[in-house]
Formats: sequence, C-alpha cells, structure tokens
Amino acid sequence: MNVLLIGSGGREHALAWKLAASPMLTKLYAAPGNPGIAQEAELVALDLANHAAVAAFCKDKAIDLVVVGPEGPLVAGIGDDLRAQGIRVFGPSKAAAQLEGSKGFTKDLCTRYGIPTAAYGRFDNAADARAYVEKMGAPIVIKADGLAAGKGVTVAMTLDEALGAVDGCFEGAFGGAGASVVIEEFMTGEEASFFCLCDGKTALPFGTAQDHKRVGDGDVGPNTGGMGAYSPAPVMTPELIEQTMREIVEPTMRGMAEMGAPFAGVLFAGLMLTDKGPKLIEYNTRFGDPECQVLMMRLKEDLLVLLNAAADGQLTHVSARWRNEAALTVVMAAKGYPGTPEKGSVISGLDKAEASGAQVFHAGTAMHEGKIVASGGRVLNVTATGLSVGEAQKKAYAAVDLLDWPEGFCRRDIGWRAVEREQQA
Ligand code: AMP
Ligand code: GLY
Repeated sequence: MNVLLIGSGGREHALAWKLAASPMLTKLYAAPGNPGIAQEAELVALDLANHAAVAAFCKDKAIDLVVVGPEGPLVAGIGDDLRAQGIRVFGPSKAAAQLEGSKGFTKDLCTRYGIPTAAYGRFDNAADARAYVEKMGAPIVIKADGLAAGKGVTVAMTLDEALGAVDGCFEGAFGGAGASVVIEEFMTGEEASFFCLCDGKTALPFGTAQDHKRVGDGDVGPNTGGMGAYSPAPVMTPELIEQTMREIVEPTMRGMAEMGAPFAGVLFAGLMLTDKGPKLIEYNTRFGDPECQVLMMRLKEDLLVLLNAAADGQLTHVSARWRNEAALTVVMAAKGYPGTPEKGSVISGLDKAEASGAQVFHAGTAMHEGKIVASGGRVLNVTATGLSVGEAQKKAYAAVDLLDWPEGFCRRDIGWRAVEREQQA
C-alpha cells in the first residue's frame, strides 16, 4: 500500500515509525513532515489547505490510504473532499469532527444522550455570558467554542478572572473560535485520556494515557500542549474503561450516527474521574500529542491493518493487543515555551540517546546546514518502555541526559502520579 500521512509533529513521527514497520506498506509519503519523519517517509510539500491539490497528489502517486494526524485539516473537511474523489481516508468527516471543532456541539450531544459531563451554558454574547457567570459564581470554566490551539480554556478560580475570560473571548482573543462560548461547572478529580478507533459504527478501545499539561514540575505554570505522557494510565481500571464505553463512547457513536454524521477515526476522550464516575471534559477527533507516542510504543498490532479496518467500517474483525510494558515520553521544549520559544539552536547527541534504547521522536525540528535545529516550541519526545512506569521513566530521563542541547528544557517529574501509585503498591 502507498500511504500519505498528513502532519509534522511528534505524533506524526510516531505514526510514521509505526506505519513504516508494516509489512503491508509499499511507500510512505508525509506532508509536510519533519526531519525525524524523513527517516521513515518521503516528504512532500503540499498546501494542505488546498484539498484539490492533495487529491491530485494522491491520484498521481496511487495513494491507497491518507492518514490525517492533526485536527485542523479534519475540521476543514479534508476527509470529505478526498473521499469525494474516491480516495480512502483514516479520519472523521467535517460533520463528525465537530466533536472537537465545536465544544458547544459536543455539550449539546451530551445533553441529548445523557452522557455525563459538566453542567454548562452556551452563549453568543457577552451580556448573557456575564450574567450566567455572576449567577453560578467561581470557580467556573470558560471555553471558546472553536479550535484555539489548546489556549481557549480558562479555569477561573475567581469571578474577576471568569468575567475577564468572557470579555476576552467576545473581544476576539481567539478570533472566530471565541464568537460562541461554553461556560461550565468546575469539576474535580484525576484526569485521564482514553482512546478509541472508530469506523462509524464500532468503537474499539485503543488504550489509556495521562498527560502533563502544565509547563513546570509539580504541575505549575502555564498550560502547554503537553509536556509528557505515559501509557497505560493505571487509574483507568478495566471497570472504568467499561463504564466509559457504556456511558460515554457508545452513546456518542449512536448519537453521531443518528444525526447523519457517523464517527470514524480516533475518538480521544479527555475524562475527569469524579467521585460520581467518569465525566467527559472534551473530545478530540485525532490522537493526542504526545499521547500517541506512548501508544505507538506499546502497540503490538500492525497499525496499517487497524487504520484500514477503521477506514472500511471493518473494526469488528480486528483487535488491538498491547505489549505488557509501560511507555513514557518526556517532551523537550525550546526555552521560552509556551510563550515565545527560541528557534535555531543546534541539537546533538540524538544518536547517543537512541543507542541507549530510547526512541526520540521529532516534534519541532528542522535541518539546517546538515544539523538538526529547534524550530518550534515542543521539539523532541524522548520515549522509552519498561516493566513499570518507573522503569520507563528512568530510561527516558537517562536518554534525555545523553542529549546535548543547552537551549532545551524538560519537566523532570513526568509520570509522578503513576510512579507514586507503583511505590505504594
Ligand atoms: P480542554 O482544552 O477542554 O481539555 O481543557 C484544558 C484543561 O482544562 C483540561 O485538561 C482540564 O484540566 C481543565 N478543564 C476543562 N474543563 C474543566 C472543567 N469543567 N472542570 C475542571 N477543569 C476543567
Ligand atoms: N496532549 C493533548 C492533546 O493532544 O490534545
């Protein structure tokens, strides 16, 4: 099979690495890719906003499957436009990608199908939104409805902060994404990520993970796209997975099918494990980044077989088996992240880190004069497996210490919740 992978981050490097291991693969292309992905795929410079140009490339290269990594192209309808040209795609339609593209859409679906989630209101003007905030009081959570690169959520501990967030949204802090706002009840509990592969009818559980969103050790400082992750999440017991499937994922699949937007692709449920059971924080309609990196390290199955089955509505015929090991990834970011990261610094020691047994996925790198340099905020994902999360953590940090990149930094406590649990057990 010829496959085109869309995207350029650490998530896509992990997908490329896993796809390249498939005996079914003839040729892998990636657009736009990065220097890490280039070890596995031929990079192509396509304008991803130009769906007709992507379709023409697919026809020219006899692409059998397009795998879409990030949410942007999905929400923009690349799946529909390629499928309309007879090209097979792993990834949801534009209508189904609303599960990520519109927080209000998802909340309304939860109401209609009795899916547990935070109580909420939806507003399209500041006056009504402010009145709701005043009535509900703090703490309270303000969310821009649309895609805001992970920055559209304010967990407000005070009324002033909440009102400021409402005003920010309606004054255009998130552009069109903030023209409509969801205001939610503040939930407490431990967070976990749960993944399913979906084919429109069937949802196949596809692993659990925990992410670390804050930039600093001890979960302090500003929010980021994720500073590290591990899988599985020990807090997600088989009973909780079963409950999540029954109360959250299955009604979602049914609801989407009933409204004529069956969901096919990756359904990524962000969960709050409250004392009243798992509640949905939000959906994403693609793999998590960096959660994908740890899932791919653990997956025993041929990824291409699974993605094909999902694209063809055949998921009942496959299963997902996992290595009996934990995986952990440490994100190395460029100093300044998540504000303005310094770009262009040279990274060395990648060979040494990989020789130690870790897998180093590239997230924001570029090739400059034959050297790997930092070109984004999150730059590398240093990933290792072990018999416990603690062992995977030791191996990942040992590899981090073999890198020579003074302009980079990472958190030193990725996996702390799971390691603490392991030590207590
Ligand atoms: P999201 O972008 O929706 O995943 O939200 C980012 C983060 O905000 C989540 O990972 C949670 O830590 C937090 N968050 C979102 N919604 C709520 C809520 N209703 N109650 C408490 N925390 C929340
Ligand atoms: N790491 C969180 C996300 O991919 O949305």
